[in-house]
Amino acid sequence: MKTKLYTLITGSSEGFGKALAIECAKRKMNLILVSLPNSGLSQLTESIIQNYKVDVVPIEKDLSMEENCVSLFKEVEQMNLSVNMLINNVGLGSTMFFKEGTIDFYQKQVKLNVMVTTLLSSLFLDMLKANTPSHILNVSSLSCFFYLAKKQVYGATKSYVYSFSKSLRAELKADNINVSVICPGGMNTNPTTISTNQSNHWLARQSIMNPEEVATIAIKGLLNQNEMIIPGFMNKLFLLIDKLLPAFVIKMIANSHVNKFKSYNTGNRNHELLLNRSH
Ligand SMILES: NC(=O)c1ccc[n+]([C@@H]2O[C@H](COP(=O)([O-])OP(=O)(O)OC[C@H]3O[C@@H](n4cnc5c(N)ncnc54)[C@H](OP(=O)(O)O)[C@@H]3O)[C@@H](O)[C@H]2O)c1
Repeated sequence: MKTKLYTLITGSSEGFGKALAIECAKRKMNLILVSLPNSGLSQLTESIIQNYKVDVVPIEKDLSMEENCVSLFKEVEQMNLSVNMLINNVGLGSTMFFKEGTIDFYQKQVKLNVMVTTLLSSLFLDMLKANTPSHILNVSSLSCFFYLAKKQVYGATKSYVYSFSKSLRAELKADNINVSVICPGGMNTNPTTISTNQSNHWLARQSIMNPEEVATIAIKGLLNQNEMIIPGFMNKLFLLIDKLLPAFVIKMIANSHVNKFKSYNTGNRNHELLLNRSH
């Protein structure tokens, strides 16, 4: 009998993760969806099963705790589910001066963006090897290419994801495991991000995309085994301009308007904007 295969998506109750889940379901892929407890995962599960007739297994875990990454893997094993696609989407975003963030927030951001991506890739590696051809999609950000004010920790975590993905891809090619990395620009995923996106300067606002259109590009790029996926014409143009213009001009453009950006982080459930504590 043919083994039933599953795509595991972290941070899938909302935003880009939810859009990825729906895109995969449209392509008849069975899903394991992982998000925080009480995040509406069961309602999303029911709606996907009803609309797309695929298997969906919801697992509620706070992945910022290392032991929960391990218990997630053990639960998947105990349920005899075979994963052939791992989508490391969960992540905490932020746009704020370094002094505005707390140590607790930065720790959680590094854990979710860096450690969870690394740990889950490691934990699921043997399972992916057993279910080839298989895929890992890591979610980085366009900000990993630009050294932007107010994006110091976030941008650095996404540079890690980018670099990790490229090296891992070179290593796992021989095992028939494809590793792709997607670097989206701004996406209108949640109220906080939408509000910050609107406060961006004109040029940056032109590149904002909806998570649904990015998800379609992401899964297409992943299945085509693209090394790097840059969604949207404007985001591709930004990267080209970055290569063509002198570095000091890029810095001037990228960091102009920095004081006008609203400070925010997506570290709390209600997506409250941070009050500018320091000024
Ligand atoms: N939005 C953008 O403009 C943008 C641009 C480039 C890259 N990205 C990247 O895209 C990814 C998704 O971003 P997004 O904007 O869609 O984020 P989002 O709207 O905040 O959604 C994040 C998802 O992760 C879940 N989650 C949060 N903390 C978790 C934890 N500790 N354990 C398990 N699940 C957790 C959330 O569950 P709850 O609903 O329970 O909170 C939610 O389902 C991130 O890696 C982000 O860095 C986003």
